[in-house]
Amino acid sequence: MKKLMAANWKMYKTRVQAEETIKDLLRLLGDLPSDREVAVFAPFTALDACGRALPYDACRRAFDSSDACVRVHQKASGQPAASFFLGGQDVYPAAEGAFTGEISPGMLLDCACRFVLTGHSERRHILGESNEFVGRKTAFALEAGLDVVLCLGETLEEREAGKLEAVLREQFSAGVAGVPGDIAPQRLSLAYEPVWAIGTGRVAGPSEILEAHALLRDILRKKFVAQADQMRILYGGSVKPDNASQIIGLDNVDGVLVGGASLEAESFSRIVLA
Ligand code: PGA
Repeated sequence: MKKLMAANWKMYKTRVQAEETIKDLLRLLGDLPSDREVAVFAPFTALDACGRALPYDACRRAFDSSDACVRVHQKASGQPAASFFLGGQDVYPAAEGAFTGEISPGMLLDCACRFVLTGHSERRHILGESNEFVGRKTAFALEAGLDVVLCLGETLEEREAGKLEAVLREQFSAGVAGVPGDIAPQRLSLAYEPVWAIGTGRVAGPSEILEAHALLRDILRKKFVAQADQMRILYGGSVKPDNASQIIGLDNVDGVLVGGASLEAESFSRIVLA
């Protein structure tokens, strides 16, 4: 299983800044080690510019028409042609319609995305998304052909109240409620992101990460019996160049989701190659 090294640019970067960072990343990363994949979750407005900056055919051809795009990416999900992918930070669970301000899976595919994030803690806690709504997004995006990184994690109050396991179980079961049990393992990943470690500089310690990831692996095995061990579980929360290699080496850590330290190409490339 390849490690997924993901950048979450949140609400940062104009098109020009995003394109420059992608070009710098491609230059700094060169040929990626064969056990690594990179995903950049760029703001919606910069996805098109990022896609055009990628050299791969799969991404260039995606601009021919939205039909071609879906075909290219369905093929790419089964057998990725490249190891550098784009993703959307959110998605609405409908193909199209009167949903002002929202973005459909087809629109993300049209911008050469392979991935989408669902349930990021900032959407749960700042935008008020419920577990059930996150589940609808996850199922709809998968069905539409996007690969999903479903984010989950507890707040400090929940952790201190001994609710880690209950919170992760609840977020997981609602999050994957509509996902078929036989889904291909590369199509769904989890990102464990303790809310108290996001953007705070306070990284979870190895024992906290090991405990949560082992629990998530166990939870995955109940629903996705045959393929749970091939599904990726990413860690996110204050990952930096100087802690990335320790985190990525832990059991059941199959990648990282990086916010602040992914904004500069130099720092994110050191994490990818850690
Ligand atoms: P951070 O953010 O690396 O800045 O803590 C991680 C995330 O929110 O995905």
